[in-house]
Amino acid sequence: MANYEQSERLKQLPPYLFVRLEELANAKRKEGMDMIDLGIGDPDLPTPDKIVKSLQIAAEANENQKYSSSQGEKDLREAVAKWYKRRFGVELDPDKEVCITLGSKEAIFNISQAFVNPGDTIIAPSPGYPVYSGASTIFNEAKCVLVPLRPEKDWLLDVDECPTDAKMLYVNYPNNPTGATCDLPYLQKVYDWCQKTETILCYDNAYSEMCYDDYHAPSALQAGHDCIEFGSFSKTFNMTGFRLGYAVGHPDLIAGLKKCKGQIDSGAPIFIQKAGITALEMYNDDGAPPSVIKNNMDIYSERRKTLVNGLRELGFDVVMPKGTFYIWFDCGMPSDEFVEKMIDIGIIVTPGPGFGASAEGYVRMTVTEPVERLKDVLIRMKRASIFGPLAADNQTQ
Ligand SMILES: Cc1ncc(COP(=O)(O)O)c(C=O)c1O
Repeated sequence: MANYEQSERLKQLPPYLFVRLEELANAKRKEGMDMIDLGIGDPDLPTPDKIVKSLQIAAEANENQKYSSSQGEKDLREAVAKWYKRRFGVELDPDKEVCITLGSKEAIFNISQAFVNPGDTIIAPSPGYPVYSGASTIFNEAKCVLVPLRPEKDWLLDVDECPTDAKMLYVNYPNNPTGATCDLPYLQKVYDWCQKTETILCYDNAYSEMCYDDYHAPSALQAGHDCIEFGSFSKTFNMTGFRLGYAVGHPDLIAGLKKCKGQIDSGAPIFIQKAGITALEMYNDDGAPPSVIKNNMDIYSERRKTLVNGLRELGFDVVMPKGTFYIWFDCGMPSDEFVEKMIDIGIIVTPGPGFGASAEGYVRMTVTEPVERLKDVLIRMKRASIFGPLAADNQTQ
């Protein structure tokens, strides 16, 4: 038999967070428990019909069944550029400043492959999306400096705490896992710091369209074009399984990404890119989302309020997020203990340390279940006496 021992790099990668949670949940399901899954960030709402129909039609045409260009089809790149103009007021050259990607995750990883040498420093927020400190760092033999996000700073990464000799910085707002958001002056500060320290700014804007009330997430390119920004169709249009995203920014960064993709994946399927065009063209000329997206956000918003208010009543100190579909809070005990207690009552939540050790004591819930199921979550927690640290009175009732 051949030698199937994994490479040293692969061995260093932690198992992907949700694999372990899924195993625990499956064991419970086998016992007949009705599991409510607030774990992974995968929208339960369907992809809008119009997008699915355009995918079906596009898949039938022979010219859409061939290899795409590694940088993505020109018509989708143009649609992305047009959308940036409408949504952020940012002008982009679709030939030089836009690359279509297989979801944003691929590009978040490939940008490091393209620009990071062994021993270079990557700065990543902690807690943060695991790919920054995981695959991006490990597969490039880089050094990852984790910069803590703190509740007293509204979970905003403070560039004054970052090393000034790094190659690359990952920043992400609206933020996974904390649900924190930022404004343009904050992004301008981060951008200017990256200019001064010659650090590549990788701005992860995968949740740019998941905003509530009157909050609209900015783009890093509003601060300047000397950076790269990743966007995604996944959460905006409930298209996680389509694996479609885009990267926009400095032509040299886009060229590096394109070179990687030419060797690795050869670009997203053309028929999926056609569906992406339909999705972006649903936006109004003034950058406002179409009604189907607004309705989805109204649904998430109602769920968010149900869960946040219910958790507050149980004695947890929870911030009402202005973006994403994540609820992030101090669970008042070690995260793993809380997660296990919740699994015992049939609820899957994500432990904070899955996003970085500094998030010990925190958990994340995703509002991917209907309001009635979320009410059930709260009832089950109350019955099992899972109260927050602020609920001393409740616990004795
Ligand atoms: C912060 C962040 N960035 C990027 C992604 C990747 O999303 P996708 O590859 O589906 O675009 C996710 C997915 O959960 C995420 O949370």
